[in-house]
Amino acid sequence: MKELKACIFDLDGVIVDTAVHHYKAWKRLANSLGFDFTEEQNEQLKGVSRVRSLEIILAIGGYSATATEQEKMAAQKNDWYLELIGQMTPEDILPGAKEFVEACKAEGIKTAIGSASKNTLTILSKIGLDKHFDAIVDGNKVTKAKPDPEVFLNAAKELNVDASVCVVFEDAIAGVEAANNAGMRCVGIGQPAVLTEANAVVSSLAEITLSKVKYL
Ligand code: BG6
Ligand code: MG
Repeated sequence: MKELKACIFDLDGVIVDTAVHHYKAWKRLANSLGFDFTEEQNEQLKGVSRVRSLEIILAIGGYSATATEQEKMAAQKNDWYLELIGQMTPEDILPGAKEFVEACKAEGIKTAIGSASKNTLTILSKIGLDKHFDAIVDGNKVTKAKPDPEVFLNAAKELNVDASVCVVFEDAIAGVEAANNAGMRCVGIGQPAVLTEANAVVSSLAEITLSKVKYL
């Protein structure tokens, strides 16, 4: 690639292990509506916005609800989710994430968060990483969900760099697509068989070095 100038990180599943908390809160909501929601079904929600996640869950349960009811359900789920993430500490940072971000800083490479979550700032302060990034673009700042590239393009804009010198780190298929749509390189965090459109796939940020990323 052209000279690497910026790394843009998705939050949930890349920097911090929040998927289990999202799952528990959604399952609690589904159970309260009288149906179950399995871990396998939860895979469909990765990288997906809160509103869209609810639509998927209601479709799974065959449950119809008015717009007002859906708003209440999403708010209820978020209250339960916030209760769960209230217990988070820096120990919930995923392997290698903090070290990788610090390595970027040491080499003068800019860093940003590009996440669909409206809880991004709360989570970053819980895990002690709220001052670690040069820009934070979260679910409160975008109107179009991944795979739309808006979140990553806005991050590049805030960092004042061109898309061609950015690398995105993503654990969701929709996120990898968003990076591709933004014209950015992408490192998948997860399984190669799932994140087939990424330029490289590793199991965590502990498994890749900045020097490898520069040659993607
Ligand atoms: C994404 C998660 O990062 O953020 C999704 O992968 C989640 O599971 C989405 O639904 C929105 O998060 P929040 O915190 O705004 O409900
Ligand atoms: Mg994610």
